[in-house]
Amino acid sequence: MKASIAIVKEFETGEVDDNLFSSFVEHLGRAIYTGIYEPENPCSDKDGFRKDVIDLVKELKVSLVRYPGGNFLSNYNWKDGIGPRDKRPVRLDRAWHTIEPNEIGIDEFYDWTKKTGTQILGAVNMGTGSIQDAADLVEYCNFPGGTYWSDLRIKNGHKEPFNIKYWCIGNEMDGPWQIGHMDALTYGRKANEAAKFMKFTDESIKTVVCGSATSSMKTYPEWDRIVLEETYDFADYISIHRYFENKGNDDDFLASWWNMDDFIKTSIATCDYVKALKRSNKTIYLSFDEWNVWYQNKKEPHPWEKAPRILEEHYSLLDALTFGGMAITLLNHCDRVKVACLAQLINVIAPIFTEPNKGAYKQAIYYPFQDVSLFGRGKVLNPVIHCDNKVTEKYGEIPAAIFSTVYNEEKEEVTVFALNTSKSENCQTEINLWNFGNTEMFYWTELSGDDLGARITWENQKAVCPVNKEIVRVENCKCKVELKKASWNVIRFKIKK
Ligand code: AHR
Repeated sequence: MKASIAIVKEFETGEVDDNLFSSFVEHLGRAIYTGIYEPENPCSDKDGFRKDVIDLVKELKVSLVRYPGGNFLSNYNWKDGIGPRDKRPVRLDRAWHTIEPNEIGIDEFYDWTKKTGTQILGAVNMGTGSIQDAADLVEYCNFPGGTYWSDLRIKNGHKEPFNIKYWCIGNEMDGPWQIGHMDALTYGRKANEAAKFMKFTDESIKTVVCGSATSSMKTYPEWDRIVLEETYDFADYISIHRYFENKGNDDDFLASWWNMDDFIKTSIATCDYVKALKRSNKTIYLSFDEWNVWYQNKKEPHPWEKAPRILEEHYSLLDALTFGGMAITLLNHCDRVKVACLAQLINVIAPIFTEPNKGAYKQAIYYPFQDVSLFGRGKVLNPVIHCDNKVTEKYGEIPAAIFSTVYNEEKEEVTVFALNTSKSENCQTEINLWNFGNTEMFYWTELSGDDLGARITWENQKAVCPVNKEIVRVENCKCKVELKKASWNVIRFKIKK
């Protein structure tokens, strides 16, 4: 199998927004309790936050962390989570059939983001919550002081405002599973009033309105059109969500990027249709604020309890490769996808896994996420690519290998992310750094293996792990690499003076 990729400095897709490397922590399963917070664990700091988890999050260089949900959001009263801990109510979280102790609320989560070098992507409840609750939360978080809610924040230990810039207005409101689920017009009108009220409280914030829960919903993309028509003046982003799972055909699963690409294009078209309809100069950007591999159809009945073990995926190498294809697709749409949240971050469909009273470890998807987060910053270029196709049952003939190229002018580096989705053939690939002058490859890592079902476990934390590959010489701006069958590759070039 063959591919060639010609990279031209001037062919720019766009600047990558740091927020493309964001994630998500919901009050769900063991994401919060025994995930980020476990006062009894010897690994925890004086505030009860697990230091091992903090270190692993830092290594990922996560930008925003969406909080507190997710489906949880739609039955959550943020006022339950502030003030003295012993006075906070214990509630039923009906979204996930869980006991919510409210030991962690917005103040503690803010402290955690300071420790991890991340920022909160806030979210307001549009299910059981009112627009008043939404505006009050913005006042609590962002108003400097001298008002009821801002003074309460100060009394609760935070003199300085949190200055949370990005806010999701509800979550997946067209999903029948969502508490307070509504039709597009009802949501659009409420979201518009909430966003307006929140912006009247702090005009510097940016808002994300709910798109349809996912592309397979019957309501998609008509829901998105209606919501945007209702919210255009006060919305900055529309959210989209997509999870993929292997339904038994590895080739279709590895081709998930193709489906994701199509979803993004349709969502952009929907935004631009409403822009045209409104005769507006304003462009709405996409917040892909939930993306990952997730085996959703597992039944996980459990009693009412705090922090149940639910949605705890153990990712295989094959999952990580598919995930890499999704990451490449996000990068290649960096001109319109300005926020993307790997859902989620700890224990719940997550790259980081903890054991209570023990340590934490990386899951297979940790590696491709870390690669794009560390080396995917700069300008995405739009190279000329020729690649042999492969036939998939679901999507027909599509390229067997996919690429994203990022030019970091400041560091004088070009990074090529490459996924060979063929399970049977290596891909002979020519990389042509057309007009970058004198360059040299200085880094090449590969994630692959004979057993695509391999999974990292507590006992075998190296079961899936990238390896360094031998550096290849660049001659006359060109170099030839062999991308192993079913492999994720990160190849970096230094531009020499
Ligand atoms: O991330 C898990 C769940 O998936 C979220 O709570 C919800 O928004 C989505 O359906």
